[in-house]
Amino acid sequence: MSKTLIRGAKVLGGRALDVLIDGETVAAVGAGLDADGARVVEAGGQILLPGLVDLHTHLREPGREDSETVLTGTRAAASGGYTAVHAMANTFPVADTAGVVEQVWRLGRESGHCDVQPVGAVTVGLEGKQLAELGAMHESAASVRVFSDDGKCVDDAVIMRRALEYVKAFDGVIAQHAQEPRLTEGAQMNEGTVSAELGLGGWPAVAEESIIARDVLLAAHVGSRLHICHLSTAGSVEIVRWAKSKGWNVTAEVTPHHLLLTDELVRSYDPVYKVNPPLRTEADVRALREALADGTIDCVATDHAPHPHEDKDCEWGAAAMGMVGLETALSVVQHTMVETGMLDWAGVADRMSFRPAAIGRLAGQGRPVSAGEPANLTLVDPAYRGTVDSARFASRSRNTPYQGRELPGRVTHTFLRGRATVMDGKLV
Ligand code: DOR
Ligand code: ZN
Repeated sequence: MSKTLIRGAKVLGGRALDVLIDGETVAAVGAGLDADGARVVEAGGQILLPGLVDLHTHLREPGREDSETVLTGTRAAASGGYTAVHAMANTFPVADTAGVVEQVWRLGRESGHCDVQPVGAVTVGLEGKQLAELGAMHESAASVRVFSDDGKCVDDAVIMRRALEYVKAFDGVIAQHAQEPRLTEGAQMNEGTVSAELGLGGWPAVAEESIIARDVLLAAHVGSRLHICHLSTAGSVEIVRWAKSKGWNVTAEVTPHHLLLTDELVRSYDPVYKVNPPLRTEADVRALREALADGTIDCVATDHAPHPHEDKDCEWGAAAMGMVGLETALSVVQHTMVETGMLDWAGVADRMSFRPAAIGRLAGQGRPVSAGEPANLTLVDPAYRGTVDSARFASRSRNTPYQGRELPGRVTHTFLRGRATVMDGKLV
């Protein structure tokens, strides 16, 4: 089996150490380790993190391979420093049966770039009417533990209650896309002063907050695990903070774009900024950053939502919602959280690897960088400065809001169970 010595890496941002990988495993972590025939990667003080884990990735296969495939999406993930992603269920056909989740799981295994954990739909066809085969998806080879109708809200309170009850038996979790459908009919952007000025249909914060309030109460009532996808408002943060103070089993994620961008950008009418939930206000961004820093929000999830240019390069009203995120997530987090002093690198490891892996109950991912652990690792050069160029993305889609923007940091190496998927900044 091959050996790699990563020399002089600041493990989780701490002291510079050497890390020896032997086969699939971290064999030793220490100062002055002997290379002993191993391939040497000179880290030169770069930051070594556990491989990143995404709870919220749209890989689009099956059905929308023009946007992304499991292969291209996992290549994008590896480029961004990820060693595992959760593949959302809003594919065609929807991942609401054991057959479809097994297909996605198998494609992930064949891709070899990162682990793919399929998410199962909560309801048949994401239609919100009838529970999908949650048990069969869990029992399948894909061992599904996270269920979500993401893209749509499970708005029927009885269905939501039943789903929470059902997954309790096998320690599953329902990941809710919190969007009250009646309050967001015709909504095109955040409801506020900008939407009023532009005359675009507004998407009120209460549409998100009312569902979160209902669902944390339901989760408490049932005693189940609830995860809230892409929190976007200050009010949502307050509700999650309250639910956690009660000791309820509620977790939450925030996307990189909601940590950085605001609805002011919609004035450009550039659909690259059209996303669900919508970009909110400066005050919301501040509250989201603070909540991620203090742990009220558990993790960063990309909501990587690739779309082909014909679905995005059109007028605002007709454009699809979503933006790609896997290849820029860590840079945005460095910019918004590390360089503002709100999180250190150990905090980044926690919010982008340890906690998302724990929420998804992923074995072998989100583990400490120490001897005996699987060698899922990401080496980051935090001093790097460069402009985002979507032409260089491994993703099949180009719908990034950061095109041409300078963002800090670069993933130089990613290791999946000891095998380099990214080496010197290039996909292997
Ligand atoms: O912007 C979004 N795009 N939000 C979602 O919830 C779904 C996603 C998609 O599938 O494109
Ligand atoms: Zn969503």
